[in-house]
Amino acid sequence: MAIILGIESSCDDTSAAIIKDGVILSNLIANQSVHEEFGGVVPELASRAHQQNIIPVVDNAIKKAGISVNEIDAIAFTRGPGLLGSLLVGTSFAKGLSVANNIPLIEVNHLQAHVLAHFIKENEQDTNQPEFPFLCLLVSGGHTEIVVVKSPTNMEVIGKTIDDAAGEAFDKCAKVMKLPYPGGPVIDKLAKLGDANKFQFNKPKIKELDYSFSGLKTSFLYFLRDRMKENDKFIDENINDLSASIQRTIIEILLDKFKKAIKQTGIKQIAIAGGVSANSEIKLQLELLAKQQNLKLFVPSFGFTTDNAAMIAISGYYKYLNKDFADLDIVPQARYTI
Ligand code: KG4
Ligand code: ZN
Repeated sequence: MAIILGIESSCDDTSAAIIKDGVILSNLIANQSVHEEFGGVVPELASRAHQQNIIPVVDNAIKKAGISVNEIDAIAFTRGPGLLGSLLVGTSFAKGLSVANNIPLIEVNHLQAHVLAHFIKENEQDTNQPEFPFLCLLVSGGHTEIVVVKSPTNMEVIGKTIDDAAGEAFDKCAKVMKLPYPGGPVIDKLAKLGDANKFQFNKPKIKELDYSFSGLKTSFLYFLRDRMKENDKFIDENINDLSASIQRTIIEILLDKFKKAIKQTGIKQIAIAGGVSANSEIKLQLELLAKQQNLKLFVPSFGFTTDNAAMIAISGYYKYLNKDFADLDIVPQARYTI
Protein backbone atom coordinates (compact mmCIF):
# COMPACT_ATOMS: atom_id res chain seq x y z
CA MET A 1 0.00 0.00 0.00
CA ALA A 2 1.29 3.48 -0.84
CA ILE A 3 -0.05 6.93 -0.10
CA ILE A 4 1.46 9.66 -2.27
CA LEU A 5 1.13 13.43 -1.85
CA GLY A 6 1.39 15.27 -5.17
CA ILE A 7 2.30 18.95 -5.44
CA GLU A 8 1.93 20.95 -8.67
CA SER A 9 3.10 24.56 -9.09
CA SER A 10 4.54 24.80 -12.60
CA CYS A 11 2.42 27.64 -13.94
CA ASP A 12 -0.51 29.50 -12.41
CA ASP A 13 -2.36 26.77 -10.50
CA THR A 14 -1.32 25.69 -7.02
CA SER A 15 -2.51 22.14 -6.50
CA ALA A 16 -2.11 19.30 -4.01
CA ALA A 17 -3.54 15.78 -4.15
CA ILE A 18 -3.46 12.52 -2.25
CA ILE A 19 -3.51 9.20 -4.08
CA LYS A 20 -3.68 5.82 -2.37
CA ASP A 21 -2.62 2.89 -4.56
CA GLY A 22 -3.62 4.84 -7.66
CA VAL A 23 -7.05 5.83 -6.28
CA ILE A 24 -7.69 9.53 -5.76
CA LEU A 25 -8.56 10.63 -2.23
CA SER A 26 -8.30 14.39 -2.77
CA ASN A 27 -7.26 16.89 -5.44
CA LEU A 28 -7.39 20.58 -4.59
CA ILE A 29 -6.59 23.37 -7.01
CA ALA A 30 -6.22 27.08 -6.21
CA ASN A 31 -6.50 29.09 -9.44
CA GLN A 32 -4.86 32.48 -9.69
CA SER A 33 -7.24 35.18 -10.92
CA VAL A 34 -4.53 37.90 -10.66
CA HIS A 35 -3.43 37.18 -14.25
CA GLU A 36 -6.79 37.79 -15.94
CA GLU A 37 -6.38 41.55 -16.36
CA PHE A 38 -2.98 41.02 -18.04
CA GLY A 39 -4.26 38.54 -20.65
CA GLY A 40 -1.64 35.94 -19.72
CA VAL A 41 0.34 34.56 -16.81
CA VAL A 42 2.69 37.09 -15.14
CA PRO A 43 5.54 34.94 -13.73
CA GLU A 44 6.38 37.12 -10.72
CA LEU A 45 2.72 37.31 -9.66
CA ALA A 46 2.38 33.56 -10.15
CA SER A 47 5.22 32.69 -7.77
CA ARG A 48 3.91 35.11 -5.14
CA ALA A 49 0.44 33.59 -5.36
CA HIS A 50 1.92 30.08 -5.08
CA GLN A 51 3.62 31.16 -1.85
CA GLN A 52 0.31 32.31 -0.45
CA ASN A 53 -1.60 29.25 -1.61
CA ILE A 54 0.70 26.33 -1.04
CA ILE A 55 0.32 25.80 2.72
CA PRO A 56 -3.52 25.94 2.81
CA VAL A 57 -3.83 23.85 -0.38
CA VAL A 58 -1.55 21.04 0.86
CA ASP A 59 -3.10 21.17 4.32
CA ASN A 60 -6.63 20.90 2.91
CA ALA A 61 -5.69 18.09 0.52
CA ILE A 62 -4.37 16.05 3.46
CA LYS A 63 -7.44 16.83 5.59
CA LYS A 64 -9.87 16.07 2.78
CA ALA A 65 -8.19 12.71 2.18
CA GLY A 66 -8.78 11.87 5.83
CA ILE A 67 -5.14 11.00 6.49
CA SER A 68 -2.36 12.47 8.60
CA VAL A 69 1.05 13.65 7.35
CA ASN A 70 2.89 10.70 8.88
CA GLU A 71 0.84 8.27 6.73
CA ILE A 72 2.31 9.74 3.51
CA ASP A 73 4.82 7.35 1.89
CA ALA A 74 6.30 9.81 -0.60
CA ILE A 75 6.01 13.45 -1.70
CA ALA A 76 5.91 13.90 -5.47
CA PHE A 77 6.45 17.39 -6.87
CA THR A 78 6.66 18.95 -10.34
CA ARG A 79 10.32 19.53 -11.19
CA GLY A 80 9.58 21.02 -14.62
CA PRO A 81 8.96 22.19 -17.26
CA GLY A 82 7.38 25.46 -16.21
CA LEU A 83 8.06 28.92 -14.81
CA LEU A 84 11.16 28.76 -12.65
CA GLY A 85 9.82 30.99 -9.87
CA SER A 86 6.63 28.93 -9.69
CA LEU A 87 8.49 25.61 -9.73
CA LEU A 88 10.78 26.82 -6.95
CA VAL A 89 7.84 27.31 -4.59
CA GLY A 90 6.56 23.74 -5.01
CA THR A 91 10.04 22.22 -5.00
CA SER A 92 11.14 24.07 -1.85
CA PHE A 93 7.92 23.27 -0.05
CA ALA A 94 8.17 19.57 -0.98
CA LYS A 95 11.77 19.44 0.25
CA GLY A 96 10.87 21.16 3.53
CA LEU A 97 8.00 18.78 4.19
CA SER A 98 10.22 15.84 3.26
CA VAL A 99 13.00 16.83 5.67
CA ALA A 100 10.67 17.80 8.52
CA ASN A 101 8.77 14.51 8.40
CA ASN A 102 11.42 12.20 7.00
CA ILE A 103 9.33 11.30 3.92
CA PRO A 104 11.03 10.34 0.60
CA LEU A 105 10.93 12.84 -2.25
CA ILE A 106 10.03 12.06 -5.88
CA GLU A 107 10.56 14.42 -8.81
CA VAL A 108 7.97 14.41 -11.60
CA ASN A 109 8.08 15.66 -15.19
CA HIS A 110 4.91 17.74 -15.72
CA LEU A 111 4.48 16.51 -19.31
CA GLN A 112 4.74 12.85 -18.39
CA ALA A 113 2.24 13.60 -15.65
CA HIS A 114 -0.31 14.98 -18.14
CA VAL A 115 -0.01 11.69 -20.04
CA LEU A 116 -0.27 9.59 -16.87
CA ALA A 117 -3.46 11.42 -15.81
CA HIS A 118 -5.18 8.53 -17.65
CA PHE A 119 -4.19 6.20 -14.84
CA ILE A 120 -5.78 8.13 -11.97
CA LYS A 121 -8.50 5.87 -10.59
CA GLU A 122 -11.67 7.68 -9.49
CA ASN A 123 -12.47 4.68 -7.26
CA GLU A 124 -11.21 1.14 -6.74
CA GLN A 125 -13.51 -0.27 -9.44
CA ASP A 126 -12.20 2.16 -12.07
CA THR A 127 -10.44 0.04 -14.73
CA ASN A 128 -10.85 2.30 -17.75
CA GLN A 129 -7.18 2.78 -18.53
CA PRO A 130 -5.11 2.49 -21.69
CA GLU A 131 -2.80 -0.44 -22.29
CA PHE A 132 0.82 -0.03 -23.41
CA PRO A 133 1.87 1.08 -25.90
CA PHE A 134 -0.59 3.87 -26.61
CA LEU A 135 -0.31 7.03 -28.64
CA CYS A 136 -1.01 10.27 -26.78
CA LEU A 137 -1.68 13.72 -28.19
CA LEU A 138 -0.41 16.02 -25.46
CA VAL A 139 -1.88 19.48 -25.98
CA SER A 140 -1.51 22.16 -23.33
CA GLY A 141 -0.84 25.86 -23.00
CA GLY A 142 2.89 25.30 -23.20
CA HIS A 143 3.29 22.06 -25.15
CA THR A 144 2.06 20.18 -28.20
CA GLU A 145 3.54 16.74 -28.64
CA ILE A 146 2.72 13.32 -30.02
CA VAL A 147 3.99 10.75 -27.54
CA VAL A 148 4.40 6.98 -27.82
CA VAL A 149 3.76 5.79 -24.27
CA LYS A 150 5.58 2.50 -23.79
CA SER A 151 5.26 2.31 -19.98
CA PRO A 152 4.56 4.79 -17.15
CA THR A 153 8.24 5.74 -17.15
CA ASN A 154 9.18 5.18 -20.79
CA MET A 155 7.78 7.65 -23.30
CA GLU A 156 9.04 8.76 -26.71
CA VAL A 157 8.13 12.06 -28.38
CA ILE A 158 7.70 11.49 -32.13
CA GLY A 159 6.36 14.94 -33.05
CA LYS A 160 6.22 18.36 -31.45
CA THR A 161 5.63 22.02 -32.10
CA ILE A 162 8.52 24.09 -33.39
CA ASP A 163 7.05 27.32 -32.00
CA ASP A 164 3.72 28.00 -30.20
CA ALA A 165 1.65 25.33 -28.45
CA ALA A 166 -1.95 24.60 -29.45
CA GLY A 167 -3.31 26.07 -26.19
CA GLU A 168 -1.21 29.16 -26.79
CA ALA A 169 -2.76 29.45 -30.27
CA PHE A 170 -6.24 29.34 -28.70
CA ASP A 171 -5.20 31.92 -26.08
CA LYS A 172 -3.46 34.29 -28.51
CA CYS A 173 -6.29 34.16 -31.05
CA ALA A 174 -8.75 34.84 -28.23
CA LYS A 175 -6.67 37.80 -27.11
CA VAL A 176 -6.75 39.28 -30.64
CA MET A 177 -10.56 39.05 -30.44
CA LYS A 178 -10.41 40.82 -27.03
CA LEU A 179 -11.72 37.71 -25.25
CA PRO A 180 -10.65 37.01 -21.65
CA TYR A 181 -7.70 34.78 -20.65
CA PRO A 182 -7.45 31.79 -20.88
CA GLY A 183 -9.07 31.95 -24.28
CA GLY A 184 -9.38 28.22 -25.03
CA PRO A 185 -12.52 27.55 -22.97
CA VAL A 186 -14.11 30.82 -24.17
CA ILE A 187 -13.54 29.99 -27.85
CA ASP A 188 -14.88 26.48 -27.19
CA LYS A 189 -18.12 27.94 -25.81
CA LEU A 190 -18.62 30.60 -28.51
CA ALA A 191 -17.74 28.13 -31.28
CA LYS A 192 -20.82 26.07 -30.43
CA LEU A 193 -22.97 28.94 -31.73
CA GLY A 194 -20.93 29.60 -34.87
CA ASP A 195 -20.30 28.35 -38.41
CA ALA A 196 -16.93 26.59 -38.44
CA ASN A 197 -16.62 26.92 -42.23
CA LYS A 198 -17.39 30.63 -42.46
CA PHE A 199 -13.73 31.71 -42.54
CA GLN A 200 -10.73 29.87 -43.98
CA PHE A 201 -7.18 30.22 -42.67
CA ASN A 202 -3.99 28.80 -44.15
CA LYS A 203 -2.59 25.74 -42.43
CA PRO A 204 1.19 25.41 -41.96
CA LYS A 205 3.28 23.01 -43.99
CA ILE A 206 5.70 21.46 -41.52
CA LYS A 207 7.77 18.32 -42.00
CA GLU A 208 7.07 14.88 -40.55
CA LEU A 209 5.00 14.86 -37.35
CA ASP A 210 5.96 18.35 -36.15
CA TYR A 211 3.61 21.28 -35.62
CA SER A 212 3.69 25.05 -35.98
CA PHE A 213 1.07 27.50 -34.75
CA SER A 214 2.77 30.90 -34.84
CA GLY A 215 1.90 31.54 -38.51
CA LEU A 216 -1.78 30.87 -37.90
CA LYS A 217 -1.88 33.39 -35.07
CA THR A 218 -0.19 36.04 -37.26
CA SER A 219 -2.46 35.45 -40.24
CA PHE A 220 -5.49 35.59 -37.93
CA LEU A 221 -4.25 38.93 -36.58
CA TYR A 222 -3.73 40.41 -40.08
CA PHE A 223 -7.06 39.03 -41.29
CA LEU A 224 -8.89 40.73 -38.42
CA ARG A 225 -6.94 43.96 -38.82
CA ASP A 226 -7.94 44.19 -42.51
CA ARG A 227 -11.60 43.39 -41.81
CA MET A 228 -11.74 45.86 -38.93
CA LYS A 229 -10.53 48.63 -41.30
CA GLU A 230 -13.67 48.04 -43.40
CA ASN A 231 -16.02 47.53 -40.43
CA ASP A 232 -14.92 48.35 -36.89
CA LYS A 233 -17.63 46.05 -35.48
CA PHE A 234 -16.43 43.06 -37.52
CA ILE A 235 -15.13 41.08 -34.54
CA ASP A 236 -18.23 41.67 -32.40
CA GLU A 237 -20.60 40.87 -35.26
CA ASN A 238 -18.77 37.63 -36.16
CA ILE A 239 -17.41 36.45 -32.83
CA ASN A 240 -19.14 33.04 -32.91
CA ASP A 241 -18.17 32.26 -36.51
CA LEU A 242 -14.62 33.49 -35.94
CA SER A 243 -14.30 31.30 -32.83
CA ALA A 244 -15.72 28.25 -34.62
CA SER A 245 -13.50 28.76 -37.68
CA ILE A 246 -10.25 29.28 -35.77
CA GLN A 247 -11.09 26.33 -33.50
CA ARG A 248 -11.75 24.10 -36.54
CA THR A 249 -8.42 25.13 -38.07
CA ILE A 250 -6.42 24.45 -34.88
CA ILE A 251 -8.10 21.05 -34.49
CA GLU A 252 -7.51 20.14 -38.16
CA ILE A 253 -3.81 20.98 -37.77
CA LEU A 254 -3.61 18.84 -34.61
CA LEU A 255 -5.46 15.85 -36.03
CA ASP A 256 -3.80 15.80 -39.47
CA LYS A 257 -0.47 14.96 -37.82
CA PHE A 258 -2.00 12.73 -35.15
CA LYS A 259 -3.67 10.63 -37.89
CA LYS A 260 -0.33 10.41 -39.67
CA ALA A 261 1.27 9.19 -36.41
CA ILE A 262 -1.45 6.54 -35.95
CA LYS A 263 -0.79 5.30 -39.47
CA GLN A 264 3.00 5.30 -39.05
CA THR A 265 3.04 3.51 -35.69
CA GLY A 266 0.07 1.19 -36.21
CA ILE A 267 -0.90 1.75 -32.56
CA LYS A 268 -4.60 1.09 -31.95
CA GLN A 269 -5.03 2.78 -28.57
CA ILE A 270 -5.08 6.56 -28.65
CA ALA A 271 -5.37 9.21 -25.96
CA ILE A 272 -5.45 12.94 -25.50
CA ALA A 273 -4.00 14.85 -22.56
CA GLY A 274 -3.33 18.40 -21.38
CA GLY A 275 -5.51 21.49 -21.06
CA VAL A 276 -6.71 21.53 -24.68
CA SER A 277 -8.16 18.02 -24.26
CA ALA A 278 -10.98 19.77 -22.38
CA ASN A 279 -12.10 21.13 -25.77
CA SER A 280 -15.49 19.70 -26.70
CA GLU A 281 -14.93 19.74 -30.46
CA ILE A 282 -11.56 17.96 -30.40
CA LYS A 283 -13.18 15.25 -28.27
CA LEU A 284 -15.98 14.86 -30.83
CA GLN A 285 -13.51 14.70 -33.71
CA LEU A 286 -11.40 12.09 -31.90
CA GLU A 287 -14.46 9.99 -31.13
CA LEU A 288 -15.33 10.08 -34.82
CA LEU A 289 -11.78 9.09 -35.78
CA ALA A 290 -11.78 6.23 -33.27
CA LYS A 291 -15.05 4.94 -34.69
CA GLN A 292 -13.90 5.22 -38.32
CA GLN A 293 -10.56 3.52 -37.72
CA ASN A 294 -11.65 1.09 -35.02
CA LEU A 295 -9.36 2.58 -32.37
CA LYS A 296 -9.81 2.69 -28.62
CA LEU A 297 -9.91 6.29 -27.40
CA PHE A 298 -9.08 7.55 -23.90
CA VAL A 299 -10.01 11.04 -22.75
CA PRO A 300 -9.17 12.06 -19.18
CA SER A 301 -11.94 13.22 -16.86
CA PHE A 302 -12.47 16.96 -17.15
CA GLY A 303 -10.77 17.74 -13.81
CA PHE A 304 -7.59 15.95 -14.88
CA THR A 305 -7.14 17.68 -18.24
CA THR A 306 -5.77 21.03 -17.04
CA ASP A 307 -3.00 21.34 -14.45
CA ASN A 308 -3.66 19.35 -11.29
CA ALA A 309 -1.67 17.56 -8.60
CA ALA A 310 -3.47 14.23 -8.95
CA MET A 311 -1.49 13.63 -12.15
CA ILE A 312 1.72 14.45 -10.25
CA ALA A 313 0.75 12.04 -7.47
CA ILE A 314 -0.04 9.18 -9.90
CA SER A 315 3.30 9.72 -11.67
CA GLY A 316 4.97 9.72 -8.26
CA TYR A 317 3.20 6.46 -7.45
CA TYR A 318 4.81 4.67 -10.42
CA LYS A 319 8.22 6.04 -9.49
CA TYR A 320 7.59 4.97 -5.89
CA LEU A 321 6.99 1.41 -7.10
CA ASN A 322 10.40 1.59 -8.83
CA LYS A 323 11.98 3.17 -5.70
CA ASP A 324 13.00 6.08 -7.88
CA PHE A 325 13.53 8.76 -5.21
CA ALA A 326 15.09 12.21 -5.53
CA ASP A 327 17.95 13.64 -3.50
CA LEU A 328 17.53 16.76 -1.40
CA ASP A 329 19.88 18.77 -3.62
CA ILE A 330 17.50 18.44 -6.58
CA VAL A 331 16.64 21.71 -8.36
CA PRO A 332 13.69 22.63 -10.60
CA GLN A 333 14.14 22.69 -14.38
CA ALA A 334 12.26 25.31 -16.40
CA ARG A 335 13.04 23.30 -19.54
CA TYR A 336 12.51 19.62 -19.02
CA THR A 337 11.69 17.25 -21.85
CA ILE A 338 9.90 13.90 -21.66
O1 KG4 B 1 -2.44 21.83 -19.33
P1 KG4 B 1 -2.79 23.22 -18.97
O2 KG4 B 1 -3.71 23.47 -17.81
O3 KG4 B 1 -1.53 24.07 -18.65
C1 KG4 B 1 -0.30 23.91 -19.25
O4 KG4 B 1 0.49 23.04 -18.79
O5 KG4 B 1 -0.07 24.64 -20.24
O6 KG4 B 1 -3.37 23.88 -20.30
C2 KG4 B 1 -3.87 25.19 -20.35
C3 KG4 B 1 -4.30 25.47 -21.78
C4 KG4 B 1 -4.66 26.93 -22.02
O7 KG4 B 1 -3.99 27.36 -23.19
C5 KG4 B 1 -6.17 26.90 -22.25
O8 KG4 B 1 -6.64 27.90 -23.11
C6 KG4 B 1 -6.35 25.52 -22.83
O9 KG4 B 1 -5.47 24.70 -22.11
N1 KG4 B 1 -7.75 25.05 -22.68
C7 KG4 B 1 -8.58 24.87 -23.72
C8 KG4 B 1 -9.82 24.48 -23.17
N2 KG4 B 1 -9.69 24.42 -21.81
C9 KG4 B 1 -8.41 24.76 -21.53
N3 KG4 B 1 -8.38 25.02 -25.04
C10 KG4 B 1 -9.43 24.77 -25.83
N4 KG4 B 1 -10.65 24.41 -25.39
C11 KG4 B 1 -10.90 24.24 -24.08
N5 KG4 B 1 -12.10 23.87 -23.64
ZN1 ZN C 1 0.11 21.47 -17.89
